[in-house]
Amino acid sequence: NNPPYPAYRATAKGSFAEDSTIRRWPIIIDSAITEVKEAMDEMSPHGPEYIEGKEILKGIDTLKDEILKDKPLRLIHDDETDAESWNSNLRAHFPFATWFSGTWLFNECYMYRRLRECFCITTYWKDFDPFARQKIATFRSSYTSVFALARKMPELIKPMDKEEWKFVYHELIQVCLWGNATDLSLLTNMTEEDIKRLQATEKHRLEEQRKFIVVDHIDKLWEQIETLENGKIEFVLDNSGFEVFVDLVLADWLIQTKKASQVIFNCKTIPWFVSDVMPKDVPILFESCLDPTFFPVDTKRTTEDVEALEKMVRRWQQYVQEGQLIIRSHPFWCSGLSYWYLKSDAPGLYNDMHSSDLVIFKGDLNYRKLVFCCDWPVTTPFEEAIGKDMANFTSIVSLRTNKADPIVGLKEGQREEIEKEATYNEWRCSGKYAVVEYNKGHKK
Ligand code: F6P
Ligand code: MG
Repeated sequence: NNPPYPAYRATAKGSFAEDSTIRRWPIIIDSAITEVKEAMDEMSPHGPEYIEGKEILKGIDTLKDEILKDKPLRLIHDDETDAESWNSNLRAHFPFATWFSGTWLFNECYMYRRLRECFCITTYWKDFDPFARQKIATFRSSYTSVFALARKMPELIKPMDKEEWKFVYHELIQVCLWGNATDLSLLTNMTEEDIKRLQATEKHRLEEQRKFIVVDHIDKLWEQIETLENGKIEFVLDNSGFEVFVDLVLADWLIQTKKASQVIFNCKTIPWFVSDVMPKDVPILFESCLDPTFFPVDTKRTTEDVEALEKMVRRWQQYVQEGQLIIRSHPFWCSGLSYWYLKSDAPGLYNDMHSSDLVIFKGDLNYRKLVFCCDWPVTTPFEEAIGKDMANFTSIVSLRTNKADPIVGLKEGQREEIEKEATYNEWRCSGKYAVVEYNKGHKK
């Protein structure tokens, strides 16, 4: 039950998988080392926390060295609940894999799981998130768009006719899509200007951006959302900070317009791909928005802006209290497997999600997992690339800015057209292009 095309691997010269393994992972691992060291600076050098900190640093160094020397992937050594399933997958599917020869998707997930091992075997650092500070700092720098959206929200949820709803939907879905452009594991490639442009919420900017959506099922998706009444909508979230903020804006709009009576946010269980949302990040975001000292002091904002943000965030907190918004996580989201295995490896989760009306998969990694991270012909239909079980699932949509090689769903000749104006790296891996791919599914 595997796709008939090869998986991406770091052994492919010049691939983004190779670049990630050689260049990007060491930077990410180094940032975790810096965080541990900075936390240790606040500790007494004779205390048990500090001594454990030194062990953690040794563990992370070993991991870095294994990658550099292209060693085989070893079994997971801790006793977290997911350790056994990691090890059985390693034994069954990747017994001879090394850091370069193994599949890029599995290896990259494994790297974050190995990093996690360094912390979860300790007593004092079990809950330490080496990416927490980066997540918060980038959210802080997104204030322009945060206040712009808060100011706009009352306009978006006031009573309006069908045509106006559609218009607002178009805007929000694009805001939610481009919010994915700012994941922290890719930040090394982007200028601040790029990020500001991609976070833009003004209408004309979004119209300009739409030409970069190379597979655009926004209208198809609307055909379904338009008919929903008090539905159940799931998000398989991606990044914390600005991205989850815009996910909350979309969720809020779906609830306010009664398209959904319940929205479920599926988060990661462990620190993941630097910026991904864990359940604890959501209340942190709420508190940050409500803290008058959180955003930089020179931020241009009026009292009305601050009040608009506060009103919106209080409403979000109430959704959580009342169960209209559920924040949850499941270890399957932090496994190394493609979503082709969702039904067989996490049947409870699959069945539960099947009862939803729509599942919104956010971001690049979720897309890679949906399409098995392999080298499909670019014109393969999305329905085929997601595999039979997901094609027979409930309706799904992937909102993804293109940050890695895999892509499907293009029209004949479209690739050639795109490549007249963009290099391979630009349209496939830089986050400046995107896809909105929808499959109606077969709800029971
Ligand atoms: O490191 C590879 C990768 O999966 C890229 O595909 C992407 O740059 C990043 O990590 C994660 O992106 P996202 O946050 O959109 O899933
Ligand atoms: Mg991410």
